[in-house]
Amino acid sequence: MKKFRLAVFASGNGSNAEEIFSFFQRHPAIEVALVLTNNSNAGVLERAEKYSIPTHVFTREQFAKGTEVVDLQRIRESTHKALAGFLLLISKVLTDGYPHRIINIHPALLPKFGGKGMYGMRVHEAVKAANEKVTGITIHEVNEKYDEGKVLFQTLCSIDAHESIEQINRKVLALEHAHYPRVIAEWITSAKA
Ligand code: GAR
Repeated sequence: MKKFRLAVFASGNGSNAEEIFSFFQRHPAIEVALVLTNNSNAGVLERAEKYSIPTHVFTREQFAKGTEVVDLQRIRESTHKALAGFLLLISKVLTDGYPHRIINIHPALLPKFGGKGMYGMRVHEAVKAANEKVTGITIHEVNEKYDEGKVLFQTLCSIDAHESIEQINRKVLALEHAHYPRVIAEWITSAKA
């Protein structure tokens, strides 16, 4: 067992999760120990299988109560949790149980375009509707409120007026893939005990 064990929460496609799996495959101190999802059809499950990472599916109701994931042995053994396109609010049981040990990525420059209901393409639609000239990514610690934890990293990209929502999504995803695994590694290894 490596010194640090990361549990990855994802609800959908899982392209960020896969970047994380690949990045930590040969890391000396950090391993991806478990993938958790509320969606039994999530693409992330197949991606985890490719990397032989154990998975666990729970329902929205089980997650809201919090006990399901907290009682899970492997989640207790994991030292850190990373959200990668995870759409449910993290319950207080988890945020209280793992202070400064849960990280999230958001596909915009928080505090703009964050909060309940702001995820995935909806974020890019809102950015486009607001005629923003720049967008980007925010990597932040998770607390009991949507998108309000301490910001750890942001980087931006410009958007032209003619760019479609899909083009904005592709640009932002490329930034996410380029930075999220590295920021996770730095966050874990630089944290105080
Ligand atoms: C990513 O863009 C991530 O930032 C976003 O969902 C997408 C998941 O893509 N997360 C949120 O909007 C959270 N509020 P992926 O499944 O391909 O990694």
